[in-house]
Amino acid sequence: MYIYDEIDQQLIDDRVRQFRDQTNRYLAGELSEDDFRPLRLQNGLYVQRHAPMLRVAVPYGVLNSKQVRKLAHIARTYDRGYGHFTTRQNIQYNWPDLAKVPDILEELATVQMHAIQTSGNCVRNFTADQFAGVAADEVIDPRPYAEIMRQWFTFHPEFAYLPRKFKMALSGSTGDRAAIYVHDIGVQLYPAADGTVLADVIVGGGLGRTPIVGSVIKKGLPWFDLLTYCDAVLRVYNRFGRRDNKYKARIKILVKALGPDTFGDMVDEEWKYLKDGPGRIPQAEFDRVNAHFQPKPYESFAGNDASFEAKKAENPAFARWVSRNVHPHKRAGYSAITFSLKGLGFAPGDITDAQLDKVADLADQYSFGEIRVSHEQNLILTDVKQSDLFALWEAAKELKLANPNIGLLTNMIACPGGDFCALANAKSIPIAEGIAQRFEDLDYLFDIGELDLNISGCMNSCGHHHIGHIGILGVDKNGSEWYQISLGGNQGMSAKGTPTSLGKVIGPSFAQDEVPAVIEKIIQTYLALRQDDERFIDSVQRLGIEPFKERVYAKAN
Ligand code: HEM
Ligand code: SF4
Repeated sequence: MYIYDEIDQQLIDDRVRQFRDQTNRYLAGELSEDDFRPLRLQNGLYVQRHAPMLRVAVPYGVLNSKQVRKLAHIARTYDRGYGHFTTRQNIQYNWPDLAKVPDILEELATVQMHAIQTSGNCVRNFTADQFAGVAADEVIDPRPYAEIMRQWFTFHPEFAYLPRKFKMALSGSTGDRAAIYVHDIGVQLYPAADGTVLADVIVGGGLGRTPIVGSVIKKGLPWFDLLTYCDAVLRVYNRFGRRDNKYKARIKILVKALGPDTFGDMVDEEWKYLKDGPGRIPQAEFDRVNAHFQPKPYESFAGNDASFEAKKAENPAFARWVSRNVHPHKRAGYSAITFSLKGLGFAPGDITDAQLDKVADLADQYSFGEIRVSHEQNLILTDVKQSDLFALWEAAKELKLANPNIGLLTNMIACPGGDFCALANAKSIPIAEGIAQRFEDLDYLFDIGELDLNISGCMNSCGHHHIGHIGILGVDKNGSEWYQISLGGNQGMSAKGTPTSLGKVIGPSFAQDEVPAVIEKIIQTYLALRQDDERFIDSVQRLGIEPFKERVYAKAN
């Protein structure tokens, strides 16, 4: 992973000192609420329902064990013993004391972490494939590009006050695991015939109140032009994006209003001034950053490990975990594994300090000390020898992180909703819990097969409900909490070739206690109508939403 040099370290240390002074002045009454707001937002600090919420950046989802131990320590010392991983690969703390936030940031800085640009109208955390560097279907490792972009856009003075927040994601695999079509800018990396790296640039995707699938506005951009081209996109947005209406301020609205072709032409026009300027990435700089992302000191294996194959054959529960939570690796004899942060009794994405400490230990023991965060709110070890998988599974079971549900219905994405978020129309966590209870039976879950179910507590769509195969949205009706269901959303190009799509609402919304039964009816309809091994999303795309709607709204007789 990238290791800070002296300049990087100085930048975040200075920022901590500056924010400590700002916080002290605010607490002493020398700074007004209005003056303090932009300062705290620049450091990831929101004021929420119960307490401040601090969002800590995890660049492209990569952490080391030392950082994870520090996150555990912060959860234990400054919060209520847990943290919440988000759909943008960050971690949030829901209960810090405002006066202690500078101390938290100071502790984070000792392990090269910070909360800079995790909120506010600036370029946010860069997200990427959680299996970057190891995935069997990867063609280009996105991490060095993500790191170069992170450095360029952190503290970039021109883009500190954009019309609205700005989110970018990168993928270098044939299957998109970073949801690049629903970001402000999505970058798809791939090699040209001569081996040089190219990028397709997707602009104007996003969820929220006006969900839009992004458009490719540039094909085959040479890698060294990534910064100047993105600068040009941001300049056009900064100049022409709407600042009069918060709900129309995202780049997606501008791209939609102009049309992607016109927008692309405007970017090209702007790019002329930047293209061969100092923002063109020098080979030496790429090499410097890329040196941090070299393959680990892997052992050589000819093929799959025999003991691993034997354990799978003799232990069905292990085989089941392997089938869902173990992922193919570029290197023979290695695998990536996912710790499921989705189970009964805790909110999706939540993890305790003790679990975090243990995950760090397991990463040291089995995976070169590295941990990844997925945008589906789970944790990953990327480099596990197959001969260690059984022992790791047993350890994960003890930690209650071995739920074999990755890609299945109970691996739900859910935002914190009304339990924590001041913007919520409805709660999300009890909905997730109700559905998890209903679909507890593993055989049933496996029979249903691959299915993404995403829940947001309001239109802001932090829980990505639009791109869930089943989406659940909390809505307010005369002061009470209701839930609208949509079907047919899809987050990204899968190995099966299903493109990104937005779900369609099936009809009037439901009360909280009705939701699990409604989901059950949708599933039964699918099971009755599916052909062969057709996945849920493919059935919905073939059949449309009508058969599901009929079944869900049929009057009981
Ligand atoms: C303090 C709590 C939070 C606040 C105030 C907040 C606020 C918002 C707002 C206002 C939007 C809509 C943006 C727009 O339409 O332009 C949004 C979208 C989003 N937020 Fe949050 N959010 C919070 C927590 C979270 C959490 C917990 C996650 C992840 C689990 C998250 C990730 C996202 C994502 C991925 C979107 C998707 C829409 C998009 O930008 O394309 N946010 N949030
Ligand atoms: S979707 Fe709404 S309720 Fe959920 S975290 Fe985002 S802003 Fe809060």
